[in-house]
Amino acid sequence: MITDNYIKKRDGIGSMFHDIALEAHAIDTIPIEMDYTLFYTGRQAVKYILETIKENHNIEKIWMPSYYCQHVTRWIKKVYTNLHFYDINPFEFHSAVDVNSFASKNDVVLINNYWGLSDGFSKTADSPIIIEDHSHGWLTKNCMKSKADYCFVSLRKTLPIPLGGICWKPNAKMETAKNHFIDDPKFYDVFDRLHLAMKAKYDYKKGTTQIEKTGYLKVMEDTEDFLDANHEIISVRPQDVRLLETYLPLNFLAHKAANLNLLYQHIQPTPLIQIIKRPDYTSFGLLLLLKEQSLWASLRNQLIENEIYPSFLWPDNKSLPELGYVLNIHVDFRYHAIDMVYIANTINDWIRFNTKA
Ligand SMILES: Cc1ncc(COP(=O)(O)O)c(C=O)c1O
Repeated sequence: MITDNYIKKRDGIGSMFHDIALEAHAIDTIPIEMDYTLFYTGRQAVKYILETIKENHNIEKIWMPSYYCQHVTRWIKKVYTNLHFYDINPFEFHSAVDVNSFASKNDVVLINNYWGLSDGFSKTADSPIIIEDHSHGWLTKNCMKSKADYCFVSLRKTLPIPLGGICWKPNAKMETAKNHFIDDPKFYDVFDRLHLAMKAKYDYKKGTTQIEKTGYLKVMEDTEDFLDANHEIISVRPQDVRLLETYLPLNFLAHKAANLNLLYQHIQPTPLIQIIKRPDYTSFGLLLLLKEQSLWASLRNQLIENEIYPSFLWPDNKSLPELGYVLNIHVDFRYHAIDMVYIANTINDWIRFNTKA
């Protein structure tokens, strides 16, 4: 039985995965049957797809969802000028995006699988080309059985790797466009630095080393700045292909599902918080939707005070105020039942405090 509370040992050193290569995690594998291409980032994977499409099509417009990761949107905007946005409610999982209502055959539409719960899109023979982003739903059923023309995933959201991306063409062979890749020693240095930081975090958690928190967090910040400024597609070194492929078939989703079920059982029902979930689907994390910013901020503070660091999906998103405010709490393989009870108790304390008698 695991009695170690991972959250309590986290000590404010960021949500990046620590290295797990040396740890014994009993995780099942799933066959990865698609014909895939690997990258260092999800951004590079989507650029590769777009460049591959451009070889045979004149893309008129690229459509992106209005509610999406602002870093990726900004990056794509720098690389492509013909960006347009379509409105979407990320919490209406059952309504498939009707791509023909705004895009035409010569366009490309990016669909996001929100939290691993979305039903995707409806299309006809005249539909635009569809690219689906499964970064929040790697291995979910919609990811593995996608009907899109192309799919991609930012793998570092799910796998304990410094960086990683993958793309594939469902039920088909991905065109190879080797000429789009370059070697970049600077990029490899960034990857190696980040990998060292993950290893340091592993040693720190084992208690065998000290970590200088500001230096550690700076590596992560610098990496994000570097990724934002880098617009090339970098060939993945053979040793990094091996690293990515070690983790690719591991079924981290099953562990997440077990953790989420515990949370769903333990968190008190309340009108203050809507838990974003869907029967028979496994969501990216524990997703909490709050209607008011003040409540969102108050819960976020309470979580941080208790060393639970939620992410905000996504800040600066203009469509957010009408939709509400989302907090995501990671519940991946690093966390166990004891952490889930701790998270549920922290949330329940907040609910009690904010519920007038
Ligand atoms: C939904 C989604 N897709 C893609 C990406 C981009 O991934 P990467 O950072 O690997 O380029 C992100 C965030 O970074 C994301 O949140």
